[in-house]
Formats: sequence, C-alpha cells, structure tokens
Amino acid sequence: MFKPSAEFKAQANLGSEATYKRLYAESVNSPAKFWGRQAKELLTWRKPFKQVLQWKAPHAKWFTGGALNVSENCLDRHLGTARENKAAIIFEGEPGDIRTITYKQLHREVCKFANALESLGMKKGDRAAIYMPMVPEAAIAMLACARLGVIHTVIFGGFSSEAIKDRVNDCDAKLVITADGGWRRGKVVELKSAVDRALTGTPKVEHVVVLKRTGNEVAMTQPRDRWWHELMAEAKAEHKPKAFDSEHPLFILYTSGSTGKPKGVLHTSGGYLLGTTITTKYVFDLKESDIYWCTADIGWITGHSYVVYGPLANGATVLMYEGAPNQPGPDRFWEIIDRHGVTIFYTAPTAIRAFMRWGDDYVKKHSLASLRLLGSVGEPINPEAWMWYHKMIGKKRCPIVDTWWQTETGAIMVTPLPGVTAAKPGSCTRPFFGVVPKILDDNGKEVPKGSGGRLFLTQPWPSMLRTLWGDDARFKTQYWSEIKGIYFAGDGARFDKDGYLWVVGRIDDVLNVSGHRIGTAEVESALVSHPAVAEAAVVGRPDDLKGQALVCFVTLKSGQTASDQLKDTLRAHVAKEIGAIARPDSVRFAAGLPKTRSGKIMRRILKEIAAGGEVKGDVTTLEDFSVVASLQAED
Ligand code: WT7
Repeated sequence: MFKPSAEFKAQANLGSEATYKRLYAESVNSPAKFWGRQAKELLTWRKPFKQVLQWKAPHAKWFTGGALNVSENCLDRHLGTARENKAAIIFEGEPGDIRTITYKQLHREVCKFANALESLGMKKGDRAAIYMPMVPEAAIAMLACARLGVIHTVIFGGFSSEAIKDRVNDCDAKLVITADGGWRRGKVVELKSAVDRALTGTPKVEHVVVLKRTGNEVAMTQPRDRWWHELMAEAKAEHKPKAFDSEHPLFILYTSGSTGKPKGVLHTSGGYLLGTTITTKYVFDLKESDIYWCTADIGWITGHSYVVYGPLANGATVLMYEGAPNQPGPDRFWEIIDRHGVTIFYTAPTAIRAFMRWGDDYVKKHSLASLRLLGSVGEPINPEAWMWYHKMIGKKRCPIVDTWWQTETGAIMVTPLPGVTAAKPGSCTRPFFGVVPKILDDNGKEVPKGSGGRLFLTQPWPSMLRTLWGDDARFKTQYWSEIKGIYFAGDGARFDKDGYLWVVGRIDDVLNVSGHRIGTAEVESALVSHPAVAEAAVVGRPDDLKGQALVCFVTLKSGQTASDQLKDTLRAHVAKEIGAIARPDSVRFAAGLPKTRSGKIMRRILKEIAAGGEVKGDVTTLEDFSVVASLQAED
C-alpha cells in the first residue's frame, strides 16, 4: 500500500477520505442532485437544463432541455479571464519544432477553421472524418467541428486506407480533414495518399482539407481537395458559436469488438463534457499552473477525453508531442518533460515497459524534478512496471493514478484519487463519483470479495456511450443483454478484501495489444480475404512488452504451399487491411483447426498452444484430436 504523502494531500483538489466518501455516497444515492450541481458549476450552459437524467435502459439522456456549445466551453469562456494569454497547447514536433498557442490564439484558429468548414458547406449534424498527425491542427479541427455541431470521427493515423474507407462510409462522412504527412521515427507517414486510396470507394465525400505539415509531394484533386492554409487565409477570425442540445452528438469513435466490423461508439455533448471535465480536475488534481501531458494519440478515446476536451474545458496547459518516444534517442520523453517543465504525465503500461527495457541510464540523464503526478491507462499495469514508474520516474514522490475506463465510458471510471486513495500496484482501486461497479458470475449473482467474475456498471453515468452509430440493436446486445439493463464492460475483474478493484483483462474475443484494442474477428476476416487462406483463427499470447501478442493459426487453400515468405505476405496483408497496429506477431500454418463436433473453433486450445504450454483441460468435445498434436509439433 502506498499512502498519499502529507505534502500532496495538503494541496490536493480533493484531499480527504471523508470528502470522497461523502461525495461518492451523494453521487450514487442522489445522482440527479450531485450531477446537476456539478453540471452547473463546471460547465457553461446557454440554456439551463430542465432535468438531469432521463433513463430508459439502455438509453440515457443527460441534462435534457439544456443547450451548450462544447467549443465555447473549451475556449470562449476562458477569454476575458486570467487564462486568456495562458498557453493552451505547447507543441513539440518530432523534428524539434516548438510552438506555443495561447487560449486566445487557439480560439482564433478554431473560429477561422469553423468558418472555413462552413464555407465548404458543413453544417450541424454532418459528419467529418479527421485523419491527422499529433499536431495542434488536429485539436483545432475537432474543436471547429464541435463549434458547428458537426460530428467528428477521428481515425488513428496508423490505420490503413481500407480502415479509413470503412469508417468514412459507415458514418457517411462528407468531409475528410488530413495532412500531407506526419513525422514518425524520422520518416514521413504519408497520410494524404492513404486518404486518396480510401476515397476511391467513398461516394459521399465532397471535400478533403489538407494541412501542410511535412512538405512531401501530394496529389491534389480539384475541386475536391483544398489546402488548409489557403482556406484559413480567406477565413474570418470571428465566429459566434450556436448552442446545441445537450444530447447533440459530439463524435463517433470506432473501436474493435467481437465481430469483424468495428463499432461506432457515439458520444454526445453535455454529459461527455461533464464527465471528462470533472475527472480531469480531480483525478489529475489539475491546478492553474500545471503543464499537463497525456501521451495518447487523438485517434484514441484517451486523446479525445484527456488531450482535448477534459483539459481544455479546465483551462489547462496541454503538452502535445508529435512523434515516437525513441526519436532521436530513447530519452525523448524525459527530455521533453525537463524542457517544458511537465508536472502531470499520463501514459500507458506498454510504454512504461518499453522504457524499462531501454534502461535506467536514459532516465537518469534527466532531472524530472517538475513532475508531481503520474497516470497509467490502457491495460492492467503489472506491479513491476508500477514500481519502476514510481521509483524511476516519480522518484517516490509522485502519486500514480491507474485509471480504468473504456472508449464506451468516455471518461475515467475507476481510479485512485491522488491525495486520498492509498495505491496498491496493479489495482485501479475504487470507483469515481457516480460509478457503481459490480462483479457478477454467469448467473448474474454477485461473487464474494476475492473471487473473479465479469465486470458490470450498474448505474448510468453522464459520459456513457449513447448508442452505436447506425446499429442500436448491436448496442443493446453488446452491452446490455448479458444481464438485462446493466452495462457489461467485457472485462474480467475482482474486488479484494479492501474493496479494491483488480481488472484482469478482456474476457471477450478482443485483444489488448500495446494498449490498443484489436478484435480477433477483424484480423481473421482480414486473413481470409487473402486468396491463399481457407480459414483463420486468431488468439492472444502473453507478451512482456505488448501485454498481448497476436498469434494467427491459418489453414491454406488446396494447392497453396506454406512458406516463410507466405507468412510475411499474410502479416503484411493484415497490416494493409487494418493498419500496422494489427500486424500479426506470428503466423502458424495448420492442416486443420481444433473444432468441436458442431464446428466451433476451440480458442482455448489455440491460446494454450500459442503460449507454448501444454493443452490442459477438457478436450472431449474436440472433433479430431490429431489436429492438436500436429499444431504443437509445428513452429
Ligand atoms: C479496455 C478499454 C480507456 C482508454 C484506453 C483504452 C483495458 C483500460 C485499464 C486499466 C486495466 C484497463 C480494459 C478495457 N483497460 N485501462 N487501468 N487497468 N485494464 O480504451 O481501447 O476502449 O479499451 O482497456 O480491458 O476494457 P479502449
């Protein structure tokens, strides 16, 4: 147990156990009172809400009757205050270029870009896809969409053109905002050319806005494609934001699930903004003078909630870094922390494990004296990594917040509160306000403390997803039908004797590779789309660095010959279909896959084989036992 220091406690935004207990009790016993008060205190409403929550499970409406503008909450309301000339974004590009953008300047850029989007015919409710590097213009694009009520869908820059096409078509985006490229490990990642390939199959796209970042040659298709800087040169700097209904959609973010098709998680305005704003304030103990750095890419929910919306709504100074953590050397992050005086640092366990592997010497070259709080997100943090983070980065002085949440939850759900909660390495500890986690068995009964089960959230919360874009039926079956009316997270977890939560990991067919969620079915469908492949099954194998590695079992069509070259071809094929993050770590050819008599692939057996272990447990339902023997012999 790591208790908060007296020093941290004394200055914390929420520094006592008694206050946590009181507010938590109020938040779950009188949610309307609690959230109504927080919404009034933390957000600026153009029209006050009439009712805090309308809950007809599984559909929630928060702050009904209320109207606000999310971009106004992140920008305009800081103008005319002491924050006006404060840095909103400190940007460092991978090549070393540095830019500081104040709230006033960011507001101006967002107003101009909103006018530019309007000049291209974008209006409330339209969808825009954003496929950009980690540069301030990515945040500007998101905020300009929010300002107009345009629904954005950010597509991570590592996704392939196939993935762009699917997402653009699924939400009928009219506009794509991209860049010529971005810098990654000293090379240009060509974004515009990926968009061009995707757009051969996207009939609804009318315009592409292209930011010049890397200066590489790109093809511009007239009149479809427009340069960012040319549009901005013509755009007016004034833009009066309209107020939108609290439930107006803010963004769609695609995430992997247990089928081949990614799910378009829909978040709306008032509730989402409140959830991200209040968690940023209390979980990160945000102060006016902090330099806050969340290393996530804006292509993920962490980038939406804790690079853009949560911190900017709080008037924070956000550090944004474009490139790789080991460019030019493995100490780039520590260099950045010292150079800019970063005080709050939020990253992922997979990154921490990479830093550990690169060696302590790279850390010891830097002071890191500005840091005062550390965060972790994306997967369970193993206690060794936690201890290293605590000693080597936090110098035993900084609290660590291990935050459990999901794309669907929008904001942090379970986390220590710094200055209040004693940490246990590996546990995300206790629920945030309004969150009621329960561990249930297969019959929906609560399991005793210390036993494992499935993780559910039993009360609605403001930043919850509202539906899956265009697929409310899947929304219902995916999250709300395991046990009718309560939210199933897809994770396995347990409470310990102190009531601390330990999340073990996904229990559905979703893998967590380097903190990124990858559906096994998506990879399988990419594999079988290759002409040589007859059948494929994908499982996870424990991996020291990535958490889980992707192992693919593939049977070939007759006439195809297994070879190392074909393995490489298939790995490249998956990267092309989905993106480099889904490139399989290993491909294993098999004469057949282990199946039950009814034809269902027995993944449990494949997992055991992938992990290099013995096949244990019940194999009596297996149709052909010789398959297992030959799979073990292979590789
Ligand atoms: C899944 C959600 C939330 C932003 C990043 C990932 C796992 C996330 C933790 C944590 C244990 C964690 C869960 C969850 N996860 N944070 N602190 N401890 N597991 O978002 O892609 O929606 O993935 O990530 O398995 O269900 P995501």
